[in-house]
Amino acid sequence: MLSDKLENALNHQIHVEAESSQVYLAMASWAEVQGLEGVASFMYEQSDEERQHMLKLVKYVNERGGHARVQDLSAPKAEFGTFKDMFEELLEHEMKVSASINELVHIALEERDYATHNFLQWYVAEQIEEEAVARTILDKINLIGNDKGGLYLFDRDIQQLTVESAAFDNPK
Ligand SMILES: [Fe+2]
Ligand SMILES: [Fe+2]
Repeated sequence: MLSDKLENALNHQIHVEAESSQVYLAMASWAEVQGLEGVASFMYEQSDEERQHMLKLVKYVNERGGHARVQDLSAPKAEFGTFKDMFEELLEHEMKVSASINELVHIALEERDYATHNFLQWYVAEQIEEEAVARTILDKINLIGNDKGGLYLFDRDIQQLTVESAAFDNPK
């Protein structure tokens, strides 16, 4: 059985992942409207991944005798400035999610729930990976600057990144 404290903290994380999925969906839609198809498909993929992160938590909480709660979500904004602003926001968002996962790991240890501690290691590794991807993308954007041709190539590159990350998540 999960302790009440840990169950509440896991439910909070379910909310965080669901909200991440919403924010990334809004980013995908905005990028699509801007004509950045590569960025849009990358963000649609990120949004789907966040939903998977949420579902994995829902199933875990229920499997451990808790009750995963589906909660209200606030509407994300619809405009994201420049695509550089958007990716800066994505990195900031991922850093907040990492902090929230770390807090959850801390509570699992406090509650001496080693099964949950073990379960959460997947999220710890995932956050390292997601922050690294966001930083790599920002480095590329900084190299391009305001070059339109560079932006076109970047948009194509990031589409490739989506294909690779999908292959990484679903190995054959
Ligand atoms: Fe996530
Ligand atoms: Fe994420």
